[in-house]
Amino acid sequence: MKTVITIDGPSGAGKGTISQLLAKELGWDFLDSGAIYRLCGLACTNAGIDFTDVAAVTDIAKQLDIKFSITDAGLKTYLAGEEVTAKLRTEQAGTAASHVASIPAVREELLQRQRDFAHGDAGGLIADGRDMGTVVFKNAACKFYLTATAEERANRRYNQLKLAGENVNLAAILQDIKDRDDRDMNRAVAPLKPADDAITIDSTDMSIETVFKSLLGIISDNNLA
Ligand code: DC
Repeated sequence: MKTVITIDGPSGAGKGTISQLLAKELGWDFLDSGAIYRLCGLACTNAGIDFTDVAAVTDIAKQLDIKFSITDAGLKTYLAGEEVTAKLRTEQAGTAASHVASIPAVREELLQRQRDFAHGDAGGLIADGRDMGTVVFKNAACKFYLTATAEERANRRYNQLKLAGENVNLAAILQDIKDRDDRDMNRAVAPLKPADDAITIDSTDMSIETVFKSLLGIISDNNLA
């Protein structure tokens, strides 16, 4: 198994950006587990399946045909052969993901696919998600919990979406983030929480650069890369 470093935390804390920067710097693989749940949510929406139909959603998770490819422009994602990278980043896709992710049978179906990312002896894996350190990679070499206030995360998401040309409303985004936190932190299976052995970093007043350097420093102090 590869050396695994997990980065968990709530929506909009900067996990995705930091994880990709670290993977690039170290020359390691990257697992965006949220994208797997987003792909599952999108597949349900495409098939006209209601998120409350547990059997149908679980069936979709079982048959999910997905592919990731790392390019200079970032991570590209495919669902049944179609590139859906931009579609996955919308608030709608995030909310759909949060709904399907609260179904225990869906999490069980998607568990092995996530663990497969750590197969191999060479190099390492940066695993980004909600339960990377608590469930999927309990024996990870190093675990981080990256967080920030809901207000700061809403501001960041607002700026990101606006830049992407989406018509957005800050109050609605803040409410969506709070609802998503509530669903992710209070679900029965694999709720979002720091692993007992995780290092918590509150990025509210930190730049991406500072967070990146801080994590890289800890990784190097622990001789992990
Ligand atoms: O990280 P993200 O915003 O792409 O994740 C979208 C949703 O997927 C998130 O609200 C909760 C769910 N998720 C999860 O339950 N477990 C993970 N390991 C990653 C994401």
